[in-house]
Amino acid sequence: MRLVVEPAARPLAGSVTVPGDKSIGHRALLFSLLSHTRVRVRGLGDGADNGRSARAIAALGATVERDGDAIAITGTGLVGMRAPAAPIDCGNSGTTIRLLCGLLAGQRFRTTLFGDDSLSKRPMRRVIEPLERMGAVIEAAAGGTPPLHIGPAPGPLRPIRYTLPMASAQVKTALLLAALCADGATAVTEPGPSRDHSERMLAYLGAPLVVAGRTTTVDTRGWDRRLAGASFDVPGDPSSSAFLVAAAVVAGACELRLPGVCTNPTRTGFLDAIAAMGGEVAREDASSAGPEPTATLVVRGGPHELRATEIAGELAVRSIDELPVLAVIAARARGTTVVRDAEELRVKESDRIATTCAMLRAFGIACEARPDGFAVEGRPDRPLEPGRVHAQGDHRIAMAAAIAGLVATGPTTIDDADNVATSYPGFAAALARIGATIREQS
Ligand code: S3P
Repeated sequence: MRLVVEPAARPLAGSVTVPGDKSIGHRALLFSLLSHTRVRVRGLGDGADNGRSARAIAALGATVERDGDAIAITGTGLVGMRAPAAPIDCGNSGTTIRLLCGLLAGQRFRTTLFGDDSLSKRPMRRVIEPLERMGAVIEAAAGGTPPLHIGPAPGPLRPIRYTLPMASAQVKTALLLAALCADGATAVTEPGPSRDHSERMLAYLGAPLVVAGRTTTVDTRGWDRRLAGASFDVPGDPSSSAFLVAAAVVAGACELRLPGVCTNPTRTGFLDAIAAMGGEVAREDASSAGPEPTATLVVRGGPHELRATEIAGELAVRSIDELPVLAVIAARARGTTVVRDAEELRVKESDRIATTCAMLRAFGIACEARPDGFAVEGRPDRPLEPGRVHAQGDHRIAMAAAIAGLVATGPTTIDDADNVATSYPGFAAALARIGATIREQS
């Protein structure tokens, strides 16, 4: 699929409900498999990635059915899972495959996990190595990539103390899930503030979990190994909202409202980065969806007057998925914006340091790739050159390019954009609803 975007002819305006958060959606599905009670999941996004997790839990023995405005899941508990009849296809979803590694590590059957071309290149040693230390049996392809063959576990898993070499919520969660099947206390320490949805949601289900600073401990001693909960409410996805927020910031908006967006501080680094650049995004109607805070994001006026900033350290961790679209905002900010400490971008759905720089260059923007990030030369006084971008199958590169297209001097064509459907199938329709001209072409 190809996207064609026209320059914005007038300020954007309107209200958009973004899809349910992808990270929370994966967890709601996978954790419900472990519950002894029927769990209703409301607000699940319609992206293909969450669909992979839904099919995976069905293959492992859960019943997944529609129940009014919710998806109802009858799980198996920690010990009632059944061996899947066939290998599980994780598609493009790194969260599905890595979280399944932890969930299956202690099971007494063998499972094969595989994915698409992009997922088949992504590093899995980061989960395999600590899980093997716990006694799990996992085989990968040469290079430590999928397909993965997991189990059967030869016995109960061993608790470990483990410090992650990188801030990764996927690796952290895989270890916390495996820890539920270990005898004793497993402690996981991370070097930076990766998203903490798993800690919040596993605590809600009654997991014996304690968070102290950067260390999360699961201690199964004296625990009856039963998880139970009634419902998960999935709030709006801040990562999807970031594209619409960016559109309003760079192209201007009468008023853009995005209700019910998750404002968990481990996810709102992009709002802090936009504020540091001089952009104004208000948070109104503060509320909550289960253990997650939410708000309506509101952008008014503009195009905003922006200045360059530096995104590094904890801020880079808290905005890791939004860095491609922050790079587009940086292209409209006076001065050179530098992103550092973001080497994790190299192993996302594409090498996002390379693909973000290539995307900006297609619009005539100078962008220097660095080992751990990039530097973008902002030029607020000149519109971008109309570009032809190859999204390299990466949903976030395709959507970031569409936002850049709003402030170009002519139409922008974005090739290889099918994977927008992994996280935000309604992206083009949402952008059109707030006043942009954008077409999907097959
Ligand atoms: C995710 C964690 C992050 C993020 C990804 C989703 C999650 O990846 O980039 O899009 O749901 O746990 P890492 O765990 O590799 O940092």
